[in-house]
Amino acid sequence: MYKSKITGLGKYVPDNIVTNNDLTKYMDTNDQWIRERTGIEERRWAVPGDGNTAATMGVKAAKIALERANLTPKDIDFIVFATLSPDYYFPGSGVQVQDMLGCDTIGALDVRNQCSGFIYALTTADQFIKTGMYKNILVIGSELQSTGLDLSTRGRGVGVIFGDGAGAVVLSRSDDDSDILSNHLHSEGKYASELTVKVPGGENPPNKLVENWDPEDLTYYPYMNGNYVFKHAVTRFPEAIMEGLKANNLTPQDIDLLIPHQANLRISQFVQKRLRMKDEQIMNNIQKYGNTTAASIPIAMTEAWEQGRMKRGDIVVTAAFGSGFTWGSNIIKF
Ligand code: UT7
Repeated sequence: MYKSKITGLGKYVPDNIVTNNDLTKYMDTNDQWIRERTGIEERRWAVPGDGNTAATMGVKAAKIALERANLTPKDIDFIVFATLSPDYYFPGSGVQVQDMLGCDTIGALDVRNQCSGFIYALTTADQFIKTGMYKNILVIGSELQSTGLDLSTRGRGVGVIFGDGAGAVVLSRSDDDSDILSNHLHSEGKYASELTVKVPGGENPPNKLVENWDPEDLTYYPYMNGNYVFKHAVTRFPEAIMEGLKANNLTPQDIDLLIPHQANLRISQFVQKRLRMKDEQIMNNIQKYGNTTAASIPIAMTEAWEQGRMKRGDIVVTAAFGSGFTWGSNIIKF
């Protein structure tokens, strides 16, 4: 079996900074509530007409990752793209990346696992590298969420949390000790309705939207049972991390950097306390970007690397929990 190595990291976020105070223009909220409950201070939102979509932001992040990996689009054998906010209902964004980057007619796969999307995407890429099928895979997490939020007071429990942006990694066949040591993935579909966007879908196809739409039905906006998701998250995050560590005979003290999905600073702090980890062992940047769903881990990973917090040989752990419910972890020897 081959080993997998992260050889390039890149991120892109829109220039437009939206502070908590800016949100008071749209809804009844305030900076104190948002900071205390989530840790978020500002987020990036694309501006209509600026050209930012899940696909184009993913391409921008991917170009940086490729350059840092010293590779060109022609060197890429496969694309895995994670998003909940694709440009089209179908096809997925992976094929747009193939075209925009000018890759050969390689395979492109979209992953729809929302908050844990990047963990599922990296795990998928790892399998293709490990079996020897591919040598260089582009793994992208990208989200344009600002255009799909209910920005009225009615939607404030969700609207203040989410941000736009993209992160990308190049995963390559490793020629040294670097490897993805383990991946653990889970789901519990009985909770699917606790964090969901139901429309459009099989039960509510677009023609119903046009012909027979009930204006009181707001199921085209994201719905989140925040408290409920929070309670599950603080259990599943530590569980997924410990499952990965145990599989590798490691303890939380062996982690050089934990990169949790940036869902809520309170969740990350809870996990840190529970696993008795030091501040320098955990990456938090939700303060600047909000929750960017499938993009949050690759954005945070890229930023950690840029800041010198992730060095070759380090044990880097990712973990996520979210819609589905789905959750998981990757244990990486960087
Ligand atoms: O990434 C995917 C997974 N997602 C998560 O992991 C998110 C998990 N959940 C959370 O992060 C938190 O539950 C939230 C941040 C979403 C909400 O925080 P909370 O502490 O659970 O607040 P709450 O929903 O219980 O709301 C408390 C109060 C309510 O008012 P009343 O009923 O107590 O009068 C809300 O109406 O805060 C009110 N509220 C707000 N007030 C000001 C809700 N949203 C806002 C807001 N600004 N934006």
